[in-house]
Amino acid sequence: MRIGVDYYPEQWDENMWESDADRMKEIGVNIVRLAEFAWSKLEPVEGNYDFAWLDRAIQLFADRGIEVILGTPTCTPPQWMLHNYPEIIQVDQHGNRVATGIRGHRCMNSPMFREFCRRIITKMVSRYRDWDSVIGYQIDNELEANQCRCSVCQERFRSWVKRKYGTIEEVNQAYGNIVWSGEFSDFDEIMPPMGEHLLWMNPSLHLDYQCYASDSTVGYARYQAELIRKLDSDAKITTNTWLCEHMPDFYDLFSNMDFVSYDNYPTAELPQNPRELYSHAFHLDLMRGIQGKPYWIMEQLSGIVGSWAPMGRTPKPGMLKGYALQAYAHGADAVLHFRWRTAKAGAEMYWHGILDPSNVPGRRYQEFRDLCQIVGTLPEMEGAMPVNKVAVLYSSLQEYAFKLQHQAEGMYYLEYLKSWHDAFTCLGIGVDIIAWDAPLKQYDIVVAPNLLINDDRVVRHLYDFTERGGTLLLTNRCGVKDENNQCMTEAIPSVYRDLTGITVREYDPLGMVIRKLDIQNDAWADNLGKWSKRVAADQEYSKVSCTRWCDLLEIHMGSVEVLASYGEEFYQGTPAVSRNPYGKGWCYYIGTGLHREAYIALAETILQERKMSYYADLPIGVELTERTKGENTWQFLFNNTEQRQVVSLEEEILLEPFEMRVIPS
Ligand code: GAL
Repeated sequence: MRIGVDYYPEQWDENMWESDADRMKEIGVNIVRLAEFAWSKLEPVEGNYDFAWLDRAIQLFADRGIEVILGTPTCTPPQWMLHNYPEIIQVDQHGNRVATGIRGHRCMNSPMFREFCRRIITKMVSRYRDWDSVIGYQIDNELEANQCRCSVCQERFRSWVKRKYGTIEEVNQAYGNIVWSGEFSDFDEIMPPMGEHLLWMNPSLHLDYQCYASDSTVGYARYQAELIRKLDSDAKITTNTWLCEHMPDFYDLFSNMDFVSYDNYPTAELPQNPRELYSHAFHLDLMRGIQGKPYWIMEQLSGIVGSWAPMGRTPKPGMLKGYALQAYAHGADAVLHFRWRTAKAGAEMYWHGILDPSNVPGRRYQEFRDLCQIVGTLPEMEGAMPVNKVAVLYSSLQEYAFKLQHQAEGMYYLEYLKSWHDAFTCLGIGVDIIAWDAPLKQYDIVVAPNLLINDDRVVRHLYDFTERGGTLLLTNRCGVKDENNQCMTEAIPSVYRDLTGITVREYDPLGMVIRKLDIQNDAWADNLGKWSKRVAADQEYSKVSCTRWCDLLEIHMGSVEVLASYGEEFYQGTPAVSRNPYGKGWCYYIGTGLHREAYIALAETILQERKMSYYADLPIGVELTERTKGENTWQFLFNNTEQRQVVSLEEEILLEPFEMRVIPS
């Protein structure tokens, strides 16, 4: 398995490089990432390239058997370029060129910028394609969905809209432009959302803009990937992604790359909100699901984080090692730590690496050294994947739509996905997080939260899945809008009416308000009693709470069983949660946000009904995952708590805080 660091030779005196490489070799580092911000040193003057220093750095690693992944340095164009070619600088939503001197301010669509990219990438790849130690390329750095509003990007947006709709009449129809006299008479009138009040913009146009912005970034990444591939067909290509405000669609972004990489910065403080405990696990599972393959961590937490924000707590003993091992347990084949040594200059001098600028090995270094040693003893599980029976569906489209029109205070798209992931994780059940339109054949239980916008193909998948015998979980805000982000004229959940047997008569966006819920299903109530005692000490469990949103359900079919109703408000007694048999399967409709124990208890009830085995006594905070390759399956236990935990599997296993244990089976 690969373990490594992100290393910035250009930021340090060359006489330190050799001892750095020696040290890395000695502790077991086997891969480094280089050069993703080094454009000004690679091309100090337009057209004058200097790769000699990078040759020397790579050679030092090659001599020690350490592999290299190179970043294309296009996130940080040099100052001469920004100065001489201002048209390559992004324009913000107010129509102003953004301030330079930071990074990521290039316009991905600027023809001039693309030409500079072509030149530097061609130089780089042609130079290193015959170096065995250079195994591949990371494209740019943490690509966001393109938010540039320069004239080139505006025109691109217009062409995107034209390609999608063909005629301006279709656009007007799709956007409902009759409202507020928004009708266009020509494509030239179409503008990206701009100005102060973005959230007042037409939501249909705005959603299209987010999709265009994602496509635009995907196009830029593809431009680089195709160039690299043409020059070196063996190179492995990736880009490092993360969760940010304007995320490109992950599935599109990686559609023509060799593997997914993710920048993983778990918080050094265990979350106050217990629901967030498995949040890092959720992100890792999301990353694995993008290609349905093992992923890489391209940047991993190495110390205190901070710089533009106050510094956070220092990671506790065991955390650095534990969180890296957790990533392998969820499907990583490589983990690279950001960064080898904390920067002594620049904006990120307080974002700590493995070593301090003093270069004196400290606690973090010792822990990293231990980690390298442990990784050296991990089984050869490259390519190994879990075989999970539970999937949660993720959709960028839904996430964009939720961000554009906040449904209720405190209600976030990912919150619902995480709640279900959390519930199954507490029961020791591995969860795949997959694209909402992915095939569902391998799964027994599929959770499809907040499918606000309908898509015919997905709807068909979900009916087929349930009909064949699957258990489907739909939630509030499913079936609300058509594919153009306009409201359906059928009662919610519109296209899911036959599957659920209910309609939503009315709804109440509760926001942060908490209301009582009466559980009417015995098995769920029993399980809830157990979890309430275990997780929340003395909760009264026959009345439990709901929050964020209340769908008031009207039952249409005799086959529907009401599992819970509201216990307060003018809608007291109105059904809130239901299930309906459909074909050989079941469709649950959860019309409200539950409290944590209620989710866990419902997940347990469903597992019991499906006669699926699970771990009822797994300590909270301990994750149980699996990876399988051929005949071999490995189980992993990771203790994401500050206490020792005893896990009873076939034998009792004692886990130290943040310890990860591999159990071959
Ligand atoms: C990532 C980024 C790195 C570095 C790190 C710490 O988002 O890719 O270059 O900035 O965060 O802030």
